Order: sequence, then structure tokens, then C-alpha cells
Amino acid sequence: MSANQEAALQKEYSPQLGQPPGQPNLNLLKTETRTQENPEEDPVLIKIENMSRVYHINRGRKKERFTAIQDFNLEVRQGEFMTIVGPSGCGKSTLLDLLAGLSFPETGHILIGGQEVKGPALDRGFVMQGYALFPWRTISKNVEFGLEIKKTGKAERRRAAQAYLDLVGLTGFENRLPYELSGGMKQRVAIARAFAFEPQVLLMDEPFAAVDAQTRELLQEELLRIWEKTHKTIIFITHSIEEAVFLAQRVAVMTSNPGTIKEIIDIDLPIPRKSGDLKSSPHFNWIVHKVWKSLHNQEDEELRETENPDIENEIDPDTAL
Ligand SMILES: Nc1ncnc2c1ncn2[C@@H]1O[C@H](COP(=O)(O)OP(=O)(O)OP(=O)(O)O)[C@@H](O)[C@H]1O
Ligand SMILES: [Mg+2]
Repeated sequence: MSANQEAALQKEYSPQLGQPPGQPNLNLLKTETRTQENPEEDPVLIKIENMSRVYHINRGRKKERFTAIQDFNLEVRQGEFMTIVGPSGCGKSTLLDLLAGLSFPETGHILIGGQEVKGPALDRGFVMQGYALFPWRTISKNVEFGLEIKKTGKAERRRAAQAYLDLVGLTGFENRLPYELSGGMKQRVAIARAFAFEPQVLLMDEPFAAVDAQTRELLQEELLRIWEKTHKTIIFITHSIEEAVFLAQRVAVMTSNPGTIKEIIDIDLPIPRKSGDLKSSPHFNWIVHKVWKSLHNQEDEELRETENPDIENEIDPDTAL
């Protein structure tokens, strides 16, 4: 990201804020961990109704329309951790762009807290696959970015940045520049930056795809720990079914052509979660299998339409992993 892009970002976000100069609520870090038994009682925060997204493609003089998402309906509750899985090209990143307000639906509505999304704003934080850190800013200054836009005072910004860097295990690295960190550390900075300005909603697009397996597991646990403490609403896209199940309260499975929600699977695993024993438990693996089946049935279904319409494809727990 260049200095010009940073200035553009500042400009893009600032008029949309509609929020008073904000002080980060560091008390959130001191709250009890999340143990709520009945998350379905939380109010709906994000509501997507009959939404479609069409790309208009210029081919010389010809204009083509490509419907990336259609008949899309989804509700996400306040404080919920939802993961989304689906085949490549099914519209996951398109969906996150829409939620971020970086693009707009052709039809339908996207409501956050009852308000139509009209553009980017600081009620939503975005963590992308690339770390997208500002290379000329120190780690601490990267984390302070959203707070600067919110016009939070300097001392408070420092305090918030430090608190979130401590939370992601980067104490002592505050004055480093991004190039001096490993991939996993950069991703932690991106997470600290997204949480530091206290957005209501965290949108994460395959944030751990570029790190090694061990770091990924650590980051998953860290993210869960932060979520349990801050009660943020998180929508997290991943290609890893295991990751989707480990992190989420519900996994949304998407189909492609055009992209839509196929099924939402409840994850009834206890909170808090620790990967070790949980990931090797039969129940965890049964849920992973269930999501895998849901994802792969769609490919089977496409085949069966022409081959054998009567194949039984119910999930049988006895034959699960
Ligand atoms: N700017 C664009 N113009 C035209 N078509 C686009 C554009 N961006 C995405 N698409 C198309 O929309 C569809 C959905 O793309 P999207 O990037 O949302 O998929 P995805 O589910 O995130 O895939 P992946 O898992 O590979 O990241 C794809 O068919 C893609 O080719
Ligand atoms: Mg994508």
C-alpha cells in the first residue's frame, strides 16, 4: 500500500464515519470470556435479503453481465462467529466487499444494525489475505491507523495499540517495521489493527491462508481468544473446512454459479475451544465430515443431474470419520 493509497483510504473513510471522535473501549479486554449458552437469543446484527451482485464487464464495444451472487439471504447475530466456505469463484470475496461497502448489490438489501450499507465505515474492520500493512509505518503506528481516523487522542491511541499488540503476542515489536516481521507476525498486526478501532463487525477473507500450519493453528486460537473477550461479530472466509468448524458457531456453505447459501450448519462445540484434544475428537471430525459432504454434494449433484438422480446422499454419523 502506497502513501497515496493511505491518503485515499483516510479520505474514503472519514466522511462516512458519522461517529464522534472515539475512545477505544479497553474495558472490553477485561470482560469475562464468552460462555453464552444460547447464542440464538442474540439480536440479528447483519441481515442480507434477496441480494444479487452483477459484474458489468466491458468486452470492447460489447458489455456483458455476470451474476456472481443471486438469491442471497443471510442473518448473522450480534457477537456471532460465522465462517463461510464454498468453492473457488462462488462469490465469497464478492460478499465481503459488499458487506464492507466497497461495492453495491444489484438487487436486495444489506442491513447492518437495521441500516443499509452505503459505503465503508469504521463499524466494520477488514482483514485480507495479504497483510496490507503500511510498510513505512511502525507496527504500533499500523495498529493506530483506524484510531487516527476516528480522531482518538495520541495517548489513548498508544494505549489501545499496546493493549492489542499485547493481546496478539507482539509485545516488544511495537517499533519494528513490517518488513522486519514474519508472515504470521504481520498477520497478527493486521488482526490487532482491525480490532483496535473497535469495529462492530470483523470481515476476514482467508486471513491465515499464507501462513504455515503451526502458525495458523496459533492464530486460530488467538483469534478465538480475542473473540471470546471482545464479543465482536466475525464473518470469516476460509478454504479449510477444519478451520471453519474450529472457529465458528455456524458454518455457511455456499454454492456457485451464481453464488448463494446452500446450507448453514450449527457447530455445537463447547466454548472456549483449544485445538489439541478438540480437533482429534470424533465429534469434531464428524462435523468436519458433515461440512465436507455439504460442499461436495453440490459437485455430486451437478453430476447426478445427468447420471443417477437417485443416489442416497444422507449423512450417516456411523460412517463419519
Ligand atoms: N471485478 C470483477 N469483474 C468481473 N467478474 C468478477 C470480478 N470480481 C470477481 N468476479 C467473478 O465473480 C465470481 C466470484 O468471485 P469471488 O472473487 O467473489 O470468488 P471467491 O469465492 O472469493 O473465490 P476464491 O475462493 O477463489 O477466492 C467469479 O466468477 C469471478 O470471476
Ligand atoms: Mg476470494
